[in-house]
Amino acid sequence: MAGNAVGLGNFLRFPVQAVNNGGGAFIIPYLVCFLLMGIPLLWIEWSMGRFGGRNGNHSTPFILDTMTKRAFWKYFGVFGIFTNIAVAAYYCYIESWTMSYVWHSIAGTFDGLSQTQVAKFFTDYVDVSVSHTGIPHEAIVFYILCLLLNTWILSRGLAGVERAAKIGMPLLILFGVFLALRGITLGTSGASAEVPGASAWDGLNFLWTPQFSSLSDPKVWLAAAGQIFFTLSVGMGTIHCYAAYVRSKDDIALNAVSAGFMNEFVEVVLGSLIVIPIAAGYLGLDWVKANAGFGMAFQTMPFLFEKWGPFLSAAAGVMWFGLLFFAGITSSLAMGTPWMGFMRDEFGWGRNKGAWSFGLIVLLLGLPTVIFFQQGVFDEYDYWAGTVALVVFALAETILFSWVFGIDKGWKELLSGSDLKVPTIYKFIIKYITPLLLLLVFMGALFTPVGNDWSGALQGVFNGQGWTLDNSSIIKTITNSGLHEQLAAATTPADVERLTDRLFYTNMARMLLLLTFVGLSLLVYLAGLRRLRSTSKRVAA
Ligand code: ALA
Repeated sequence: MAGNAVGLGNFLRFPVQAVNNGGGAFIIPYLVCFLLMGIPLLWIEWSMGRFGGRNGNHSTPFILDTMTKRAFWKYFGVFGIFTNIAVAAYYCYIESWTMSYVWHSIAGTFDGLSQTQVAKFFTDYVDVSVSHTGIPHEAIVFYILCLLLNTWILSRGLAGVERAAKIGMPLLILFGVFLALRGITLGTSGASAEVPGASAWDGLNFLWTPQFSSLSDPKVWLAAAGQIFFTLSVGMGTIHCYAAYVRSKDDIALNAVSAGFMNEFVEVVLGSLIVIPIAAGYLGLDWVKANAGFGMAFQTMPFLFEKWGPFLSAAAGVMWFGLLFFAGITSSLAMGTPWMGFMRDEFGWGRNKGAWSFGLIVLLLGLPTVIFFQQGVFDEYDYWAGTVALVVFALAETILFSWVFGIDKGWKELLSGSDLKVPTIYKFIIKYITPLLLLLVFMGALFTPVGNDWSGALQGVFNGQGWTLDNSSIIKTITNSGLHEQLAAATTPADVERLTDRLFYTNMARMLLLLTFVGLSLLVYLAGLRRLRSTSKRVAA
C-alpha cells in the first residue's frame, strides 16, 4: 500500500505544486487536506475494499454494488478501473524516462554538457520524430520496455507486486536519504560567479516558512486537495483492490494511517529536500520560482549532478532516476491490479491473461501520449484521469459509504479487528466534512472564476455583473475555450497550424478516454448480466 501511494507524485508533482502555490503558503492547506480528506478517504477505501473482498469482489464496480441495492452505483465503480488504466498510460511514460535516464547517467551521456544542452536532450527525447539521443525512437523503445516489465511482474500475481515493493521501497528510501543529505549540506557552496547569492537554504526556507495569508485563497486549496488525492492514490480504485485481499481481522484502521503517514514522510520530508534545495543552491531561488515545472527533474538535475565530479555525478544520476523508477513502478503495478481482479472475478481470467491484456490496453491508450506528447495528449490524460476523475469518484464513494451504506455500518467495518482507537470525531468528519469539502473542491474546479480571483468574482455577483469563468475551469476546458481564444488571436500561419493540431489531438485524447470508459462500462454491464443469470440458475436448481 505504501508502494502504491509513494510515487512520481511525491518527487515530481509535490515540489512543483508547492513552489507554484507560494511555498510555505501551500503547506498548511496541504496538511489540512491530508487530515480532513486524505485520512478519511484512506479509511473509507480500505473499509470498502475489505468489505468487498469478503464478498469475493476485488474491483470497485462490484465492491460498490455489494454496498447498495441500486444498480447504477456499479457504473460509478467503473472509475476505479478506468482511472488506473488511463493514468498508467501516461504514468508509465514518465517511468520509462527514468529507466532511460538511469542508462544515460551510467553511460555518461550528460558529461560535459551545458545546462542548455542537457535541457535540449530532454526536448529531443520526447520529440519522437527526431532521434538525437543515440537510440532510434528511444522514447517509444523505453516505453515498450517499461510496459513489458510492468506486465511481466503483474503476470506473477500479487506475489510479484509484493517482491517489487520489498526491493524497491527500501532502495528508494536509501537513495532519497543520500540525495536529501546533499540537499541539506549544500548550503551556499553552490554559489558561482553567475549566481553569486545562490543558497540551498533559500529553497528550504521558501518551502518551510508557513504563510497564513494563503488560507483564504481557494486556488491554493484546490491545488493542495489535488496533490493529496494524487499522492495518496485515493479516488483511484487501487486501494480498494489491495484491501480486498487483506484478512478480515486485520487492523485496517492502523494500516491505512501507517501507509498514509509513510507516504507523507517520503513526500514532505524527502520530496522537499532534493530538487528544490539543490536547484536553489546552484541556480538561485528566483530561477527555481521562474522555472518550477515537471521537466526540472529531467532537464536540470543531470546538469547539476555533473558538478559533483564524474563518479558522484553518475552515482547521483543512478540514485535520482532509480529512486523515481522505484517510486513509479510500485505505483504503476498497483494500477494493473483492479483490471486483473475484475477480469478474474467476472470472467475467470487467470493472472497471465489479466496482466497481458492490461499491458496491451495500456500500450494502445498510451502510445498517443508518447507520439503526440508535444501536442498535449499527455496533459489531457493527466487532467481528466489524473485530476478530475479522482475527485468525482472520491465524492461518489464518500456519499455511498456515509449516506447509502450508512456511516454506522461503515464505522463498524473500519473498527473491526482494529487496535487503533480511531478518534470518534472522524465519524462526524467522514459523514459531513469530507463530502462537503469534496463537493467544494469539485464545484471550485467546475466554476473557477476568471483569473482565479474568487473575491472579485463574488463581488461581481453581488454587483450584478455575473460570474465569469476562467479558461482553466472544467466547464471552459470541455469547450476548449482557451485554445479557441489563442487560435483566434494567432497571427502567423505556423501558430495557426500548431494550435489547430493541438485542438485536434486534444479532442482525440478525449475520445480515446471516453471510449475506454464506455468499453469498461459495457464489460461491467455484461458482468452484471452474467451474475443475474448465474443467480437465477442457482435459484432454479
Ligand atoms: N500515488 C501515486 C503517486 O504519487 C500515483 O505518484
